[in-house]
Amino acid sequence: MRERIEAILAEINDLKCRKEQEIEEARVRLLGKKGEVTKLFEEFRSVAPELKKEFGKSLNELKNLASAKIEELRNALENSAEASAPSFDLTKPGDSYPLGSRHPVSIVREEIVAIFRKLGYDVAEGPEVEDDWHVFEALNFPPEHPAREMQDTFFVTSGENPILLRTHTSSVQVRAMETMPLPIRIVCPGRVFRNEAISARAHCIFHQVEGLYIDENVTFADMKQAILLFAREMFGSETRIRMRPSYFPFTEPSAEVDVSCNICHGKGCNICKGTGWLEILGCGMVDPNVLEASGIDSKKYSGFAFGMGVERIAMLKWQVKDLRNYFENDLRFLKEFETNI
Ligand code: DAH
Repeated sequence: MRERIEAILAEINDLKCRKEQEIEEARVRLLGKKGEVTKLFEEFRSVAPELKKEFGKSLNELKNLASAKIEELRNALENSAEASAPSFDLTKPGDSYPLGSRHPVSIVREEIVAIFRKLGYDVAEGPEVEDDWHVFEALNFPPEHPAREMQDTFFVTSGENPILLRTHTSSVQVRAMETMPLPIRIVCPGRVFRNEAISARAHCIFHQVEGLYIDENVTFADMKQAILLFAREMFGSETRIRMRPSYFPFTEPSAEVDVSCNICHGKGCNICKGTGWLEILGCGMVDPNVLEASGIDSKKYSGFAFGMGVERIAMLKWQVKDLRNYFENDLRFLKEFETNI
């Protein structure tokens, strides 16, 4: 019996299995009902009493060793299976790179421009750092007008015709009137600067789109129709507009335009403060003085102009109540516009 125990011990030590099936076969061969170890236990019954102690101990050790070896082989097989399994699925489509999203101000600016392009308007741009002539003087701003004061405007130089950061994109209409052949039909998107305390409703940097149309026989009715078309494209086909008399130095007559509230459709809500109307832009017929200042014959030509704040339109479109969201570039805010790429 001693030799048989030793032979099985050697077999256990040399045991090498690569497959689950081989391990199971080894287990049955050693520990199964008719296995070698099991058989030794049966034979143990007829061992001489004086040898029982010695063989009993050896047989128990042999059985434990065989079970431990089978367990060890199983674990090794499992680990190697895990290690060799591919860690990724080659048939899956690749990860896409995060592309980011367009800024909501860019989305709205492009939408405004696209609407006017459809109406035959070209895009014109001008410098952000401008002179007093193009920002104020040529636009009929009287010398005492508050917009010319230091507290509203960022001046770069002082003296005659000082350099400043443009406070509105109306300066681009002056440049257009000075240089472009008539008729002129343009929109001028751009950044503007005002010396304002930053709040939910005001910022020192924001964006405007200016519009200008000059030709023979351009009337207030043409302006109204262009603005109505714009409002319906931007806020929905049911949108109505109303014009309130207003004042701008460079237009006469001047008006401020409201659109019917796109939230409550005119019934009154907290966005339109119960009025049913939202202000979107300023406009008017170009003052003859302004035409003449840029060398255009005001007897022959007439025109209209309008100006709107891009952030304002964006706030109305998406009901964003705090203007600062558009400048802080918090990714959580910007990601809301991701689908609009
Ligand atoms: N420039 C004006 C502003 O910044 C907006 C504006 C009003 C532009 C009336 C116009 C206009 O062309 O006709 O507040």
